[in-house]
Amino acid sequence: MKIKKAIIPVAGLGTRMLPATKAIPKEMLPVVDKPLIQYVVNEAVSAGIRNIILVTHSSKNAIENHFDKSFELEATLEKRVKRQLLQEIQSIIPSDVTIMHVRQGEARGLADAILCARDLVDDGPFAILLPDVLIDEFRADPRKDNLAEMVKNFESTGISQIMVEQVPHEQTGSYGIVASDQNLDGTIPGSTFDITDMVEKPRPENSPSDMAVVGRYVLSGNIWPLFRETPVGAGGELQLTDTLRLLLRQEKIAGYRLCGRSWDCGNKLGYLEANIEYAIRHPNIGSEFKRYLLDKIAGKDDAGTISEN
Ligand code: UTP
Repeated sequence: MKIKKAIIPVAGLGTRMLPATKAIPKEMLPVVDKPLIQYVVNEAVSAGIRNIILVTHSSKNAIENHFDKSFELEATLEKRVKRQLLQEIQSIIPSDVTIMHVRQGEARGLADAILCARDLVDDGPFAILLPDVLIDEFRADPRKDNLAEMVKNFESTGISQIMVEQVPHEQTGSYGIVASDQNLDGTIPGSTFDITDMVEKPRPENSPSDMAVVGRYVLSGNIWPLFRETPVGAGGELQLTDTLRLLLRQEKIAGYRLCGRSWDCGNKLGYLEANIEYAIRHPNIGSEFKRYLLDKIAGKDDAGTISEN
C-alpha cells in the first residue's frame, strides 16, 4: 500500500525551550532562515508524500499562517520587484501538496496527538515526523533520502519502519531504545533489522542496545485500533512507544538505521548545534560565517587583533 499521508504533531508545550517558546511555537523557531516545521514538511514532500496533517493547538496559529497564502506580503514584494524573495515565499508549499490541520485540545501525549488525526488518514498506512528533529540534509549520502527509503521499504514489504540512530552508550537514558535479536553494532546505515522490543529511557546498564528512536515512523494501518487500547503511561500521557509495543505483539516492525545524523532541536544545546551546522553550509552566508567562527576560536576580537584571554 502507498504512503500518501504524514502526520506532524505540533501541539506540545515545548517546555525545554522556554522562555523562547512562551509565545512562539517551538516548531516556528528558525534554524538559520527557515522555521523547523518547514524543514520537516520539505522532508515529507521529498519522500513523495502529498497530504500533510498538522496536529496543532490554539496557541500555534503562527504555524498555520506560515503555510497560508499572504496576499499583502506577496503584493508588497511584487511591487518592490523582490523576485527572489517572492519566489521563496510562494514555494514554501508546492501547489500539489495539501496541508490539513486538526486540533489536540490538551497535550495528552504523542499517541493521543496521532489519534486526533485518525479521521483524516482513514485506515491506511501513514508516516509520522516529529518536527523538533532535523535529519541531516548535508552529510547523508545524497543517494539515500532516509524517509523516502523507509517509505520504499514499507511499500515493498508492508512492514512498519522506525528510524533509529546509534547514540553513546552512557546516553541511553535520554532516548527510546529498541531491542533486537541481532547484534546491532555492526548494522550498516540505511539497512533494516527486526525490532523485538522498545524501552523508554533505560539506564545504560539495562539498555538492550544503543539504537535510539529518532522521530520518523512509517506505520501500518493496523496500528489504528491499538491507540484506543493504549494504557495511560509515563507522565500521565498516552505514549507512542506503548502503542508500538502493542503493534509488535501482532506484527513485525523494522528498525531503519539512519544514514547521516539527526539534530534534536527540542533542547537548547541541540538547537544551537543545528544552527551552527546549517549556517556553515548555507549557500549565501556559509563561508563568511565559518570565517567568523574560526576567528572567534582563534581569539580574535572585532578589530582583528588576538585577545589575551
Ligand atoms: P516532545 O515531548 O519532544 O515535545 O514531543 P514537547 O512536549 O513540545 O516539548 P517539551 O518536552 O515540553 O520540551 C515531540 C513532538 O510531539 C508533539 C510536540 O509538539 C513535539 O513536536 N506533541 C507532544 C504533541 O503534539 N502533543 C502532545 O501531547 C505531546
